Amino acid sequence: MTLQGRIYLVGMPGSGKSYFGKKLQELFSYPLIDMDKVIEEREGMEITAIFSEKGEPYFREMEAKVLRELTDEYVEAIISTGGGTPCFHEGMTYMNSHGTTIFLETDREVLIDRLGRKAHRPLVQGDVDGRVDALLRERLPVYQQAHITIAHRDPALMLEAIDALKK
Ligand code: S3P
Repeated sequence: MTLQGRIYLVGMPGSGKSYFGKKLQELFSYPLIDMDKVIEEREGMEITAIFSEKGEPYFREMEAKVLRELTDEYVEAIISTGGGTPCFHEGMTYMNSHGTTIFLETDREVLIDRLGRKAHRPLVQGDVDGRVDALLRERLPVYQQAHITIAHRDPALMLEAIDALKK
């Protein structure tokens, strides 16, 4: 399968979407867009502040709007989405009909380890194991609708899988 057009990276927070976005950008000469950053720039505040000051429903609406605007703007791009982008406002169906979706599937233990070390993720505070389990239960069925799933524990293997997509 040759990748072209809009490439949407989806997956849990901590699944490495930003990292793999950068690697994909090295392979394809497409612009790389990080949706969280676009939202932060627009709102002039960090995601955590948007959640605490304006609430999650506001954030989800903004996210859905930004997804559609970026899609209208770019015919070829790597779009790194937020962990919840596919799961609200029909995000997954929308992305699947406007480009190629890649789900970066990461082991529960790896996610817990990565997220446990980061304090800035509003949806994974406190009981990290419990939150990750709950999010995975809710979200896996959505992420699994992606056109392509890349499931490897080892980042080097993930990169090999991404490289193979180009050939
Ligand atoms: C979220 C993930 C975050 C960010 C926001 C909500 C989620 O993005 O969009 O905090 O619902 O999982 P990352 O997946 O890039 O951390």
